[in-house]
Amino acid sequence: MGAASIGTSPEVAASQLRAGHPVALPTETVYGLAAPLFNINAVRKVFELKGRPLNNPLIVHVKDQKQLETIAYVPKEALKLIQAFWPGPLTLILYKKANVPDIVTAGQSSIAVRSPNQPLFQKVLSLLNEPLVAPSANRFQEISPTMAEHVVHSLGDQVAYILDGGRCQFGVESTIVSLLDPQNPEVLRPGPISIETIEKVFGKEIKPITEAVVGDLEESEGPKIAPGLFKKHYSPRTPLYLVDNLYTFKPPTSYVSIYKEGAVHVFFKKPTKEADVPNVFLSENGDLQEAAFNLFAKLQDLDTQNWKSIWIEKVPNHGMGQAINDRLMRAARQSF
Ligand code: TXA
Ligand code: MG
Repeated sequence: MGAASIGTSPEVAASQLRAGHPVALPTETVYGLAAPLFNINAVRKVFELKGRPLNNPLIVHVKDQKQLETIAYVPKEALKLIQAFWPGPLTLILYKKANVPDIVTAGQSSIAVRSPNQPLFQKVLSLLNEPLVAPSANRFQEISPTMAEHVVHSLGDQVAYILDGGRCQFGVESTIVSLLDPQNPEVLRPGPISIETIEKVFGKEIKPITEAVVGDLEESEGPKIAPGLFKKHYSPRTPLYLVDNLYTFKPPTSYVSIYKEGAVHVFFKKPTKEADVPNVFLSENGDLQEAAFNLFAKLQDLDTQNWKSIWIEKVPNHGMGQAINDRLMRAARQSF
């Protein structure tokens, strides 16, 4: 295949998909690498292009609740969330129906599904009239793309077509909630829909999956529950170090030179005082939505600038901040 073809036509995207070629599509979270759910060869190509192990199941995108019901069993607790948040950045883990190919779910009985709130993606779903698998359009364990150029950067010219929808609205991947036990919903990945908002819908407290469980998952064999929970994930190629607060951080002796020489510091808010190390910030005034919107684009950008290391600080851990800190902890080579 020649140079990557980027364009704005949902019709071209749909015809490439019909021909069995994976296509990158914009969503409101990050770009996805799509293939028709029932085309096993096309689905296999998605695993290959991403370099993703076959034991890591794919997320599926549906037009709406009606299409969801053709591939999954939908408990009434799921309906509550669907009514509140679909189309939108919320992925549900449900029991799948028998028509879903095993390769999609890595042989598991559950399936991850969401309905994206992005007009171009919705248009492609309407043209195809069939669900699409669409994991994030990056190579395995790299940062998720939030603009068409990032897809080219990560997957090169291997993708038949990249449907350009501009920069993604949220900039971090969807919240994942498991409803396999509908009475005990679990948040497997924090995202744009905060845990607090989901708790309001259910009227009860929801436990996020803990670090301890993440550790167990990494060690365990067979299909992963949510391999987005692999500890190392979303990494830039430049070593990334995470600290609580760049103003107060004192590097241990062995890190003093790494912390300064050839380093770039990433502040949450625009720094108030002159710093002696080159720096950037995620949000002018400390807005968490804006920080999420900029996070992956900023990291991608810095990754192409030959810094020896990137030092970034955590953001306040509420709402979208939980999703940002989660991605930072996974991306970091080391946390202090
Ligand atoms: O916002 C998003 O969710 C984006 C856009 C493109 O929709 N997609 C995305 O896909 O982030 P991906 O594959 O990078 O992350 C989906 C996560 C993966 O960690 C996958 O392992 C997990 O969902 N997953 C898929 N099927 C699952 C299942 N049956 N049970 C638990 N986790 C599952
Ligand atoms: Mg991903």
